[in-house]
Amino acid sequence: MECTDVKKTGNDSPGKTGDPCIMIIFGASGDLAKRKLIPALYNLARENLLAKEFAVIGIARREMSHDEFRNKISQDIKEYATSDFDSDLWNCFVQRLYYLSGDIQNPGTYKQLQVLLSELDTKHGTQENYLYYLATAPDLFAHVIQQIGATGLAQEENGHWRRVIIEKPFGRDVVSARSLNNEIRKVLNESQIYRIDHYLGKETVQNIMVFRFANGIFEPIWNHRYIDHVQITVAEDIGVGQRGGYYDQAGALRDMVPNHMFQLLTLTAMEPPISFEADAVRDEQVKILRAIQSLSPEEVLRFTVRGQYGDGETKGQRVPAYRLEPSVPPDSLTETFVALKLYIDNWRWANVPFYLRTGKRLPCRVTEIAIQFKSAPFVLFRKTSVEHLKPNLLVLHIQPDEGISLNFGAKIPGPVVHLGTVDMEFKYEDYFGRTPSTGHERLLYDCMLGDATLFQRADMVEASWGVVSTIQDVWKALTERKFPNYEAGVWGPKEANDLIERDGREWRTCK
Ligand code: BG6
Repeated sequence: MECTDVKKTGNDSPGKTGDPCIMIIFGASGDLAKRKLIPALYNLARENLLAKEFAVIGIARREMSHDEFRNKISQDIKEYATSDFDSDLWNCFVQRLYYLSGDIQNPGTYKQLQVLLSELDTKHGTQENYLYYLATAPDLFAHVIQQIGATGLAQEENGHWRRVIIEKPFGRDVVSARSLNNEIRKVLNESQIYRIDHYLGKETVQNIMVFRFANGIFEPIWNHRYIDHVQITVAEDIGVGQRGGYYDQAGALRDMVPNHMFQLLTLTAMEPPISFEADAVRDEQVKILRAIQSLSPEEVLRFTVRGQYGDGETKGQRVPAYRLEPSVPPDSLTETFVALKLYIDNWRWANVPFYLRTGKRLPCRVTEIAIQFKSAPFVLFRKTSVEHLKPNLLVLHIQPDEGISLNFGAKIPGPVVHLGTVDMEFKYEDYFGRTPSTGHERLLYDCMLGDATLFQRADMVEASWGVVSTIQDVWKALTERKFPNYEAGVWGPKEANDLIERDGREWRTCK
């Protein structure tokens, strides 16, 4: 059967397909490839969004033939597909998967890659367009790019393109991020570099821009005159699991803040861009990052809190302390929780605190942006039995219950004026059903079309690390923390509550 004969089960006319290309996955035997990348490509195939002229090459050290790789991936997809498994579609898709076994530190591997690429270009008509996905250990990023360059596989000429998606973490502080940028720019132009942040693949994150800029009613009140403060929470109930080796080197601040949390912050706080061109949007995001008020060492002490979980209980189960997780040293001083208070120094946000918190082993999994408006200027109802008139609260629910809610005061029916707070709630699922997704589909598709709007530019990455490095430097200079300082299953250490309660405000909790 020809692949073009397969009746796809997804959307019949969704828009144009990605460009013809070969996607090369470095680190193809890893978790990311099997859990996210291949299932995402399969979803794109279902939606008719892959070009007919498309192929994938997985590269990893292990010896495997193309067929053994296909068999392995065919097993994995049954476990990780996010949409119904369609065997006709899969059988067709899997024929376009190839495998190259080799050490990516060895220049010979790239020579073999070159041969395979040109074979597949002829076979599949992929027009010498190559999308490299670096799903390797971060210390290999610069090396792989340098080797691609040395083999002539990064050069764009005669109308074909070469693009590289780079996973996080992109550096570990401002100095290493800058040096990585310098290294890879010796080989690639900025327009060829796609620094991925999987948060930007989430529908609800993309919807922040639509919510703000496709609706006329929110922008006029989206500023310091009407907004009291903003809370951004990325809470996880899981621990570090098997990722202790990586995580212990990173910690919550590096792992989550300069990337995912700052994406949420910049999309919430940025000015309307002049267009939705990649650079127009990223110009506005970077302005916010640069406007984050820099913290003096004394402010780092007052405005930042870190914690590490001890043993405790989540979802009714006893769970071990961070220091007892696999690959974590028993005396680790790495933080698994961080809370910050930041200000953005511009006209829109003058004196509006942004409270950010993220951590592992918290009471629930929730990612949300809560915008707390100021109270009404004059409380007409103060002679009624109402003690506290709650100010309006708008919450962008990113996950797991994607949606948007708005709280406002309403009269409770009855002869006496009693006020209560009611919730107006929009849930994605109710309106649009569930779209099967790994969160990588849109990002891969955009890269195939050369749209970098949802990827980080070099200056964004460096500006983000700039903020985080200041905090990191002060923490490093302090005497050691008494870790663990919160029990698994609670909202971080007590100091996190103090951070916001000192200002007469309080954190939101799980529903
Ligand atoms: C990753 C972090 O980037 O994001 C992990 O390294 C974290 O530590 C994960 O668990 C959270 O992603 P999500 O999509 O589950 O919110």
